[in-house]
Amino acid sequence: MKKTLIIAATAAFMMTGFVATEAVAGPEGKCKTCHSFGAKHKVGPALAGIVGREAGKSGFKKHSKALKNANWTWDEAHLRKWICNSKDAVKEFAGDPKARTKMPPQKMCGAKGDAIIAFLKTI
Ligand code: HEC
Repeated sequence: MKKTLIIAATAAFMMTGFVATEAVAGPEGKCKTCHSFGAKHKVGPALAGIVGREAGKSGFKKHSKALKNANWTWDEAHLRKWICNSKDAVKEFAGDPKARTKMPPQKMCGAKGDAIIAFLKTI
C-alpha cells in the first residue's frame, strides 16, 4: 500500500515537472533566437501583437525590401506558410518570384506551426 502511494506520488511529481518544462520550451522557443515576444526588436522585428497586424509595420528598421513594401496582413493563413517556409512564402505574398526575406525558413509546419500561432495570439 505504502509503496503504491509512493509510486503514485512520484508519477504525479514527474508529470507536473514535464508539463512545466513543456510550457517554457514550446515550439516557439525557436523564434526567440531572433525575436522578442515583447516590444523590443532583436535580429528580427518584435512580435507582440503580430496576429492581425499588417506585415512590415512594427517599426523594425532592417526589413528586406519585400517586407518594407508588404501589403498583406498576418492572419493565420499567412503565418502558417511563413513559419513553415518564409523563403517560398515571401515570393507568394509579394507576387514576385524574385522576392526575398531576411528570415531563414523555420520548417515549423503543420501542428508545430499551429501551436506557434496559438502562442502568438497570446502576446
Ligand atoms: C534566424 C533569425 C530568425 C528566426 C529563428 C525567426 N525569425 Fe522571424 N524574422 C527574422 C527576420 C530577420 C525578419 C525580418 C524579415 C525581413 O524583413 O525580410 C523576421 C520577420 C518575421 C515576421 C514578420 C514581422 C512583421 O512585422 O511583418 C514574423 C511574423 C516572424 N518573423 C515570425 C517568426 C516566428 C513565429 C519564428 C519562429 C518559428 C521566427 N520568426 C523565427 C528572423 C528570424
